Amino acid sequence: MPPTQQIADTSPQRESVKSMSPADPCTIVIFGASGDLSRRKLLPALYGLAAQNCLARRFAIIGFARTKMMDEAFQQSAIDSVKQFADANTQQQECKEFAQALAYVSGDYDDPNAFVKLKQRLEELDREHHLHGNRLFYLATPPDIYPVIVEQLDKAGLANPTSEKSWVRIIIEKPFGRDLASAQKLNQTVLKFFEEQQVYRIDHYLGKDTVQNLLVLRFGNGIFEPLWNRNYVDHVQITAAEILGVEQRAAFYETAGATRDMIQSHMLQLTSLVAMEPPAAFDATAVRNEKIKVLQSIRPFSEDSIRTDVVRGQYGPGSMPGDNAPLAGYRKEPGVKPDSTTETFVAAKVQIDNWRWAGVPFYLRTGKRLPSRVSEIAIQFRRAPHLVFRGQDLSTNALVLNVQPDEGISISFNTKLPGQEMKLKTVTMDFSYQKEFGGGERSAYATLINDCMRGDATLFDRADGVEAAWALVNPILDWFQNHKSKVPNYAAGSWGPHEADELLERDGRHWRNP
Ligand code: BG6
Repeated sequence: MPPTQQIADTSPQRESVKSMSPADPCTIVIFGASGDLSRRKLLPALYGLAAQNCLARRFAIIGFARTKMMDEAFQQSAIDSVKQFADANTQQQECKEFAQALAYVSGDYDDPNAFVKLKQRLEELDREHHLHGNRLFYLATPPDIYPVIVEQLDKAGLANPTSEKSWVRIIIEKPFGRDLASAQKLNQTVLKFFEEQQVYRIDHYLGKDTVQNLLVLRFGNGIFEPLWNRNYVDHVQITAAEILGVEQRAAFYETAGATRDMIQSHMLQLTSLVAMEPPAAFDATAVRNEKIKVLQSIRPFSEDSIRTDVVRGQYGPGSMPGDNAPLAGYRKEPGVKPDSTTETFVAAKVQIDNWRWAGVPFYLRTGKRLPSRVSEIAIQFRRAPHLVFRGQDLSTNALVLNVQPDEGISISFNTKLPGQEMKLKTVTMDFSYQKEFGGGERSAYATLINDCMRGDATLFDRADGVEAAWALVNPILDWFQNHKSKVPNYAAGSWGPHEADELLERDGRHWRNP
């Protein structure tokens, strides 16, 4: 294979991308290379990094999976994936150059010989391209195979760096376990073969620009932080709504459900970033310490509070607003059991028992087949203490971070309508990433893979973090398991079951309509 050259930088880019520093030369091994995640996210993200000069001048990528394939077939399938899913404008020539860096090893995950083959291939590529023995293993297989892979990596002598100057790191895809006990067990297994600082537990939400920008908004400006507490904030709403249904992922989703899939990871990550105290520094230890303190301060769910504060749902047949095309209910999706009770929607009221947030509920809501694709964090401020404008229905101020699809931040406030009369109207001040910096939604995976290659674990989860999140959702999972639900209970294309509205109405509040 010819040494991979840096791909010409011809695509329009955003300033933030340009500022990412190139990583060390290294080989990236993707386990599960013929799978969906690799095709849709990882290969396009790596291509994006290469096209934007964020990979080192020398790099190689090895795909590893059970499917038998030659290098050329893997290269062609990577080109197809990049063309279909990459964010940047893909150029024929760049794509070909990128594909030349790709090799493929097939084998069973529990077969030591396959790992010997992998090792030989790694050594060849190292020698040919002077990659300094730096290796990044990406675990993108079904989660039950993770323990097998880490053990085989160790047996093949691949878990440790080859010299004092080289590094070996491992990215582990979510879900990291399926409950507290299995997450603890997985941590023990992984940490038997790897040091904690080699392990990067990924949650792609943390790679999204607006999510990172939340930290800059809070800790890079003087004006927001003084208001960021129970004295000024009435409540917080975090929504991650998807239009898509379960698609082709029933095999995974049937064993997971929205609580495992979204609440344990993305939603609690967002909660901890909104609620955390200022870290002493922007580094992996300080940021993660503060985030974990938030998880430890969340009031544990009891049987009683699950009954009153957690709502689950499953979509039935329906259609999207403004579109008559009928959509099947979850139970009719391919691969789903006809009497499945798996939840495709969860709403929960979370209470953080600390000085900053006492009495300020965080309402979380996530679901599939909702009317729009939107992820947002809304900080709802308290009403003005005394209203001198009588007879006016004044809404409260909200600071909204739009995570996707239109990344940005807006703040709403009341203003006077022009004219003689004192009539008020709520308006917003908006900041849009697109308008300010150009470009489209950028791959969160690209950001996080680049961070890992540079050895920065700030946006990855630590063993104790992932366990703290499981400890919180575990009682909910048990309760769901032991109590039947009457599902389906919301129509595809609606905002979830009415109990989710009642959850807020009971507190005199309502969901924002994003
Ligand atoms: C994944 C979940 O982690 O996140 C999926 O497994 C979900 O079920 C996806 O669709 C949502 O990610 P995004 O970036 O599209 O909001």
